Amino acid sequence: MGNVYNWQLGRQMEYPYEEAHPERQFAFVFNINRCIGCQTCTMACKSTWTFSRGQEHMWWNNVETKPYGGYPHFWDQKILMLLQKANPDGQIWNARQRNESAPYGVFEGKTVFEAVSARTDQEIDTPSDIPQENSGRVLGYLPADEDWDAPNLYEDTARRPSEQYQQWGGEGASLPAHNIWFFHLQRICNHCTYPACLAACPRQAIYKRPEDGVVLIDQSRCRGYRKCVEACPYKKSIYRGTTRTSEKCVACFPRLEGKDAVVTPDGVPIETRCMSACVGKIRMQGLVKIGKDGQWAKDPNNPIYYMVKEEKIALPLYPQFGTEPNGFYIPPRWVPISYLNQMFGPGAEAAIDAYVCPSRKMLGLLQLFRVTRTIIFRFKLIEGQKTGEFEVMLPSGKKKTLEIFNDTIIGYDARDREIVQLTIEEPVFERSKEHYNSI
Ligand code: SF4
Ligand code: SF4
Ligand code: SF4
Ligand code: F3S
Repeated sequence: MGNVYNWQLGRQMEYPYEEAHPERQFAFVFNINRCIGCQTCTMACKSTWTFSRGQEHMWWNNVETKPYGGYPHFWDQKILMLLQKANPDGQIWNARQRNESAPYGVFEGKTVFEAVSARTDQEIDTPSDIPQENSGRVLGYLPADEDWDAPNLYEDTARRPSEQYQQWGGEGASLPAHNIWFFHLQRICNHCTYPACLAACPRQAIYKRPEDGVVLIDQSRCRGYRKCVEACPYKKSIYRGTTRTSEKCVACFPRLEGKDAVVTPDGVPIETRCMSACVGKIRMQGLVKIGKDGQWAKDPNNPIYYMVKEEKIALPLYPQFGTEPNGFYIPPRWVPISYLNQMFGPGAEAAIDAYVCPSRKMLGLLQLFRVTRTIIFRFKLIEGQKTGEFEVMLPSGKKKTLEIFNDTIIGYDARDREIVQLTIEEPVFERSKEHYNSI
């Protein structure tokens, strides 16, 4: 058992292997506030990677409706309950101990790696053909077949406290938190720094690529033991009966490598299928540099680094599981903070503050979501004139003044070439008279 540093937990933690890190890490930010639940991302992945026989139930990208929805059904409630059972009332954060290497404070509970000793065979549905000496590395459970049968059950079903609903007369929508709420949660494999799937595989069929931190299953080594399916707390490794192997999101690696000849003729890395198809413009994906100490190297001009480390506007999904996921979310501003704290850790309130009253740089960066499919490695802001100001309400209910400036924001590709430039205020172009009726 190794001892590794997990910056999202602000402490060392147990992991079955020694600490090892890639040169760069695939990472992404999803802005939940903007998602319209259209599932274009889901279909972009499906039509690229999982359209074959035996993959019918596979949705490497899925968008589920919280709080009730989940794919597979109730995946997060189930793992949260297992953790609670293993460490009753001990899954708590010490948010006072915040510093640069512990931005959310210190998690004092147990991760899926640390809680495993407390599990019992009755709690886990483990197939009998799995080598027993390799079971028990990670706390988890194997979903039943029917748990995979509907990718978006409870679609658009809102949390509605029934006894109070009458009293409010249906009035459920006023900020800072709505009384009646739901939101869409977009999910792909998090290409975790400490993957639970990799830790659990008895065949060592799962590996993390040194060049970009992408986690892949070697199909020639996999024997279908499904320990990865049981162990992944996000349930993003999925078994395929026709091949008797498991499969998962591959981070569209040909696009990351700049080797997709159709869409990357000049060889620069471009965003994945699910990212570049996003209609709501909620997604930004990148590659962050990893330093010699295994932590994210300081790079405040990288959009992902800036949002996660500088602004702390984007937070990891269930960091308490302990895998150090590399997917980050701007939390929905209308959802009660207690729910968001459980899902994203103690940084949720500050993240919403940073979103509803963004800094000039952050407001500029928000404009760069989905304006290009080329991965932005660097961004720059050029200051412009002030154009207005208005009041916004923070999660605490306090009001703050947001000033708006007509700044210019520029994005650069892997070769540091300018690929996009736009202003906060959209310019107006008048069509000349002779082209009034043309498209
Ligand atoms: Fe593995 Fe799950 Fe993490 Fe993906 S999300 S790397 S499948 S543990
Ligand atoms: Fe699918 Fe690629 Fe998105 Fe992964 S990154 S979910 S493989 S489209
Ligand atoms: Fe949400 Fe974008 Fe997916 Fe539509 S394509 S469901 S807006 S993440
Ligand atoms: Fe290993 Fe999962 Fe295959 S546990 S053998 S990668 S099904």
